[in-house]
Amino acid sequence: MQHRQLKDFPDGFLWGAASAAYQVEGAWNADGKGESVWDVFTREPGRTFKGSNGEVAVDHYHRYAEDVALMAEMGMKAYRFSVSWPRIFPDGRGTPNEAGLAFYDRLIDALLANGIEPVLTLYHWDLPQALQAEYGGWEDRRIIADFAHYCVTLFQRFGGKVKYWVSLNEQNYNLTNAYQLGTHPPAVQDRKRFFCANHHAFLANATMIAAFRQHVPQGQIGPSFAYSPAYPASSAPADMLAFENAEEFTNYWWLDTYCFGRYPQAALAHLQAAGEAPDILPGDEAILRNGRPDFIGVNYYQTLTFTENSLDGVTMQRINTTGQKGTTPASGVPGLYKTAPNPNLTTTNWDWSIDPTGLRIGLRRLASRYALPLMITENGLGEFDQLEHGKVHDSYRIDYLRSHLHACREAITDGVDLIGYCAWSFTDILSWLNGYQKRYGFVYIDRDETDAKTLQRIPKDSFYWYQGVIANNGADV
Ligand code: BG6
Repeated sequence: MQHRQLKDFPDGFLWGAASAAYQVEGAWNADGKGESVWDVFTREPGRTFKGSNGEVAVDHYHRYAEDVALMAEMGMKAYRFSVSWPRIFPDGRGTPNEAGLAFYDRLIDALLANGIEPVLTLYHWDLPQALQAEYGGWEDRRIIADFAHYCVTLFQRFGGKVKYWVSLNEQNYNLTNAYQLGTHPPAVQDRKRFFCANHHAFLANATMIAAFRQHVPQGQIGPSFAYSPAYPASSAPADMLAFENAEEFTNYWWLDTYCFGRYPQAALAHLQAAGEAPDILPGDEAILRNGRPDFIGVNYYQTLTFTENSLDGVTMQRINTTGQKGTTPASGVPGLYKTAPNPNLTTTNWDWSIDPTGLRIGLRRLASRYALPLMITENGLGEFDQLEHGKVHDSYRIDYLRSHLHACREAITDGVDLIGYCAWSFTDILSWLNGYQKRYGFVYIDRDETDAKTLQRIPKDSFYWYQGVIANNGADV
């Protein structure tokens, strides 16, 4: 579909950027905060790049006012951040920690005072360690009530001033790493346990959305999904089938369940035959159907291309966490699909394909299938940046963001209801497994894996570029 003229971004478009508590806040034990599973996991040798952790991160907890001032200078209309559950409930449940709630009050108030819409993520992976230790976190149904209690506490506290809420961030990516690859806590490799924990997360998500309707009736809520639209490696029927398998198992397994309240049929039948399906109890389907979101949050970085994989073929492999280009092996599920290189696309140094058209394709697929508004809750380029004479000339990031924003505009012209775009990330952040060398921000942070240095904030070239994009509502992208 080629257009002679593109539509403008709508009035009130949420031009933003995003972060997550563990990746920016630091202050890991300040003011009564409890431990999260990541506080514990990163202390174990060999888990992260050079043993990096979020104990200090970029010290946003203490420097949030300076960060919000920079957001205001850039003209940002929205800031997506997450609340740290163990900062609110050090033991996962019980009486809330007032000092933790007060921090987010200060942050939200500073945003609102600067005309920046807060987009609050309820869960970005930092589960209270107490709940992991007590009953295995997402593997036990007790998590559903504890998560609801935590969320309702935030609804009651912030519902009057926060309109946009993100429920679970990348349930698909986080739990795949946690229970299939063994690369996020609790570092398990077991498909049955994976689908079980994932089922509980769906129930927790839907239960909490039902509560949201009562506590924040004017608000909007949706999950953030790590969306890598699938391509077939060729038009050979075997590749087409592998592509269909990948779509069902890597995308629709989550998106259909969020939006339709049911699992995709072929994938469920396969798992039941393999003895890997989650235990679906009476009443679960009603809970899931009651949790339809108001929008879908889209975290888009790349498309993935798939080819057939024999029954004794490759299994799931770890991602590249070093930035050494070309070191990512094929990864897949025997008998279903495996990844293949796409010769039409270039990649980042971490082997992530760069595909703005894939974003347009993905947005259209979601809009047509689910008929919901979409918000891009993450999109960005992780790269090595060089600080030279106090400047960072990140023209490659500007190219990446510009091309993806152009794809957004094309999708809007195609009829997609896109309400916002949150680039990942505002400042540089701790990349969970990749340390501080994989930088995403508009604002450079003076630190590395081994030394927190000055933590000085230095706007990159992309900061000033995005400032211009926002000022003219994307008319030039
Ligand atoms: C998403 C997460 O997976 O992508 C972010 O929601 C993360 O928290 C981002 O930082 C980029 O991934 P990575 O592995 O490059 O940090």
